[in-house]
Amino acid sequence: MTTRSATAIAHANIALAKYWGKREIDGNVPATPSVSLTLGGLSTRTTVALLDAGAAADALVLNGEPQGGKPLARVSRMLDEIRALAGVATRARVTSANDFPTASGLASSASGFAALALAAASAYGLAPDRTALSRLARRASASAARSVFGGFVSLGTEADAAATPIAPPEAWDVAIVVAATTLDQKPIGSTEAMERTRVTSPYYEAWLADAPGLAREIHEAILARDLERLGSAAEASALRMHACALGARPSILYWSAATISLLRGVEALRREGVPAYATIDAGPHVKILCGGADAEMIAKRLGPLAVRTIVARPGPAARLLEEAP
Ligand code: DP6
Repeated sequence: MTTRSATAIAHANIALAKYWGKREIDGNVPATPSVSLTLGGLSTRTTVALLDAGAAADALVLNGEPQGGKPLARVSRMLDEIRALAGVATRARVTSANDFPTASGLASSASGFAALALAAASAYGLAPDRTALSRLARRASASAARSVFGGFVSLGTEADAAATPIAPPEAWDVAIVVAATTLDQKPIGSTEAMERTRVTSPYYEAWLADAPGLAREIHEAILARDLERLGSAAEASALRMHACALGARPSILYWSAATISLLRGVEALRREGVPAYATIDAGPHVKILCGGADAEMIAKRLGPLAVRTIVARPGPAARLLEEAP
């Protein structure tokens, strides 16, 4: 029998300044500062329900499928931290679903762990402030620290790093056009890929030296609402991150032929005077930053190069849902 439950919703975010690489300290701390945009309409909804005192293990259902192994272990690790804070040992059932297709290439760990942190804290009777919640989410997945907040968000590299908001979603009418290039899962996850990059890429030190300057520029461009400056720095951040990962051994090459075609398509748009800038995460999909008024046109134009396009606008912070009566 369930004694206590809570449901939270959190949205995906796209890094404009990329986090890639972890500091060599405990707590899953990024080695580079990042700046992101939380997206509307692309969310994870997660319910955490406490089980009977006798239950021996947590349970996880993701998009309708019961999970064990690594996914469950990662969720249980976060629940263990929350249980330690709450002084409660009771296990829980976690039910989580995304409202966006897995093949969209949007990081579900960001929205997933932000929603889990909020729902679990509430189910176990805690009421952490946003900073504490962001820290909790970061320990599970650093990009999740940013999805605790809406709009434009930054995350640093300090040992207890928590994200901080830069500007709310309504502050600037920009959009991200997600151009998914394949329905397949990515061959290597970001956690493993960034660790291999750190250990084997000769360009890693250069990436660490360069990334903070780009993150500062991106932060300033957001405050100035300067799309051209933001876009060109965001594109550089993504391409330098991938250049660094390409230098790993074995090399990490996330791109496909469609990725290059989309990059060329974005260049062509710019040549025609449309402000459009590409960013790419740990996968082959291309996400295009643009002015809100151009988003639908860009999605239509680049649509033939992708298997699917989604227009995403700036979105809100993670939030708790009222329990059904
Ligand atoms: C390329 O946050 O998924 O999306 O902290 O190991 O869970 P972990 O990694 P994750 O990495 C995100 C990498 C990225 C860039 C970014 O979101 O900043």
